[in-house]
Amino acid sequence: MKVLTILGARPQFIKAAIVSKALEKIGIDEMILHTGQHFDANMSTIFFDQLGMKQPDYNLGISGGTHGYQTGKMIEAIEKIVLEEAPDCILLYGDTNSTLAGTIAASKIKTKIAHVEAGLRSYSRYMPEEINRVLTDRIADILFTPTDLATNNLLAEGVIPEKILQVGDVMYDAALFFGEVAIKKSEIIKLENLSTEKFILATVHRAENTDNKEKLHLIFNHLEILATSISVVMPLHPRTNNALKAIGFDFEKSKIKFISPVGYLDMLMLERTAKLIITDSGGVQKEAYFNGTRCLVIREETEWVELIEIGFNKLLPDLSDLSRMAISMLNEEIELKSTEIYGSGDASHKIADSLRNLTLDK
Ligand code: UD1
Ligand code: UDP
Repeated sequence: MKVLTILGARPQFIKAAIVSKALEKIGIDEMILHTGQHFDANMSTIFFDQLGMKQPDYNLGISGGTHGYQTGKMIEAIEKIVLEEAPDCILLYGDTNSTLAGTIAASKIKTKIAHVEAGLRSYSRYMPEEINRVLTDRIADILFTPTDLATNNLLAEGVIPEKILQVGDVMYDAALFFGEVAIKKSEIIKLENLSTEKFILATVHRAENTDNKEKLHLIFNHLEILATSISVVMPLHPRTNNALKAIGFDFEKSKIKFISPVGYLDMLMLERTAKLIITDSGGVQKEAYFNGTRCLVIREETEWVELIEIGFNKLLPDLSDLSRMAISMLNEEIELKSTEIYGSGDASHKIADSLRNLTLDK
């Protein structure tokens, strides 16, 4: 059994790191193809190094440009490698352009396609991620879903149940496993002098926020308001850095504590120690819950609705409410009920077992 993992963006390195360990444990031969979509050391290499992942067998070095340019170049280059390597299965994660390129490149070649984090929907066709995951789910042969809702979304779209395997969320597995490592190894709290401070952890990078000047201004105006009374720490995504520079944001005057993107172990420690998280990230919304820190989601909708339903996270459709909502959440005590929304922490093992049992009859 030979699996070719195709990835390219930060959250995919984290998801793949935990699944790779499970594949290795049962002797599945995995090759890794990195598209190059994320390329800065702190957006890419750091995850392979710190999470004990083997280095990519291929790196296509394709990044930037428009969606069509980026995806198109990736499809062409991935197809060549799939033809040469002839894997039994292509393993894809999430909803980035690298995911879609992998799907399309492999779809006309005799290989199985497996999609981890299948079935998520925001039902907003304005999100590039929604297009990427809907198309991937249409084409993939094996759909590994993280939640009941994701499974039901696929069934409602007419996907045959035999294709769906609800395994739980690999990000939960990753947070459990690497959370222990982070407690022992991460020094971020000390290094950033956060041990005695109450702070909000904030991340912003989604196109719907960064590419809309009005929204970007609103978000950062409100974060500045919050930063006058509590520290606001923001590991700054390169996309947001570029967008802020483009609107002439005054980094010198800002009260927000900007730091470079951090490794996963440091991120888990920041999430665990923060008093509140404000984010538009998919992964960080759930990690907030895994780490027992409430989260204000600065988006109009989310794929992770379970956390909104249990009242632990809150959605913020109206950005002009950001600072008010954040302060109200900081002052509100709520009890975290233990649930198994995201499975039992063994999603990666279930994925590995299922791939081992694949019948290669495509
Ligand atoms: C991508 C995903 C998004 C995911 C995010 C994770 C798509 C359509 N979007 O968005 O779903 O949430 O990754 O972080 O695939 N850049 C750098 N250095 C890097 C990485 C990016 O400078 O290491 C720059 C790029 O050159 C580009 C911009 O940041 O100008 C955006 O990068 P891109 O990979 O296109 O999209 P993301 O916003 O990162
Ligand atoms: N993350 C990280 N360092 C950072 C910011 C985020 O390691 O500086 C991790 C975070 O813990 C989560 C993942 O990156 O596991 C989320 O990625 P991102 O927010 O870029 O993308 P999304 O989940 O929205 O697709």
